Amino acid sequence: MPTIQPAPLTTSDFDAIYAEAQRDPGLVPWADGRPHPALVSWLNAVAPSLIRCGARVAVVGCGLGEDARELVRRGYDVTAFDASATAIEWAREIDAAQAGCFHVADVFDLPPRWMRRFDLVIEINTIQALDPERREDTTDAIARLLSPRGHLLVICRGRDDDTPLVDGPPWPLTADELRAATDAAGLEPTRPLEVFHDHETPPVLRIRGLFERRAG
Ligand SMILES: C[S@@+](CC[C@H](N)C(=O)[O-])C[C@H]1O[C@@H](n2cnc3c(N)ncnc32)[C@H](O)[C@@H]1O
Repeated sequence: MPTIQPAPLTTSDFDAIYAEAQRDPGLVPWADGRPHPALVSWLNAVAPSLIRCGARVAVVGCGLGEDARELVRRGYDVTAFDASATAIEWAREIDAAQAGCFHVADVFDLPPRWMRRFDLVIEINTIQALDPERREDTTDAIARLLSPRGHLLVICRGRDDDTPLVDGPPWPLTADELRAATDAAGLEPTRPLEVFHDHETPPVLRIRGLFERRAG
């Protein structure tokens, strides 16, 4: 059995990280001021054949909104949300013209009007940041946003099968763990999961997966 050191952050803990940063993104551990490179490459290579311009896209746990603003720039109808009111206030300030895209919402208590609404749901580094014991709940909550023919794109830290799970957050996932969590949410991969080392120094193992509702 993998060893888990459970020290999950509450939504208040996340908000405190943003509040203590006092508008200095350098003090938010996961904020690097740019959209995630694995999202950008996917948007360039895959999205045009899958998602029409103007499609409804949700961004889960959007933080300061770099990924959401990239999606707006590309012409999608973006709804980005985060449980941290401070992060959302900050994201709105970064580009006032896009402020309307950003909402305070808890993925476990989503507005009913968002259910089954989105053609594409993007989740980057949030599943791995939340309680690994609740991973299936988290994935199930995210999946509720998907329209019947919608797609979920997950980008997260990866872990080899033989590497124990310790010292989170974050809690990187094995490919099998991501498959199991999405399977429990009624989703299946539309293509093999991509497991790769990124270009950070040192390189970080990442997983990128695209999922849709299982037929039947
Ligand atoms: C590790 S950060 C990743 C932020 C962003 N996706 C990124 O890649 O830069 C996790 C984000 O999830 C948010 N979060 C935590 N719990 C949440 C919840 N229950 N509902 C919505 N967002 C949540 C946090 O406030 C934080 O912004």
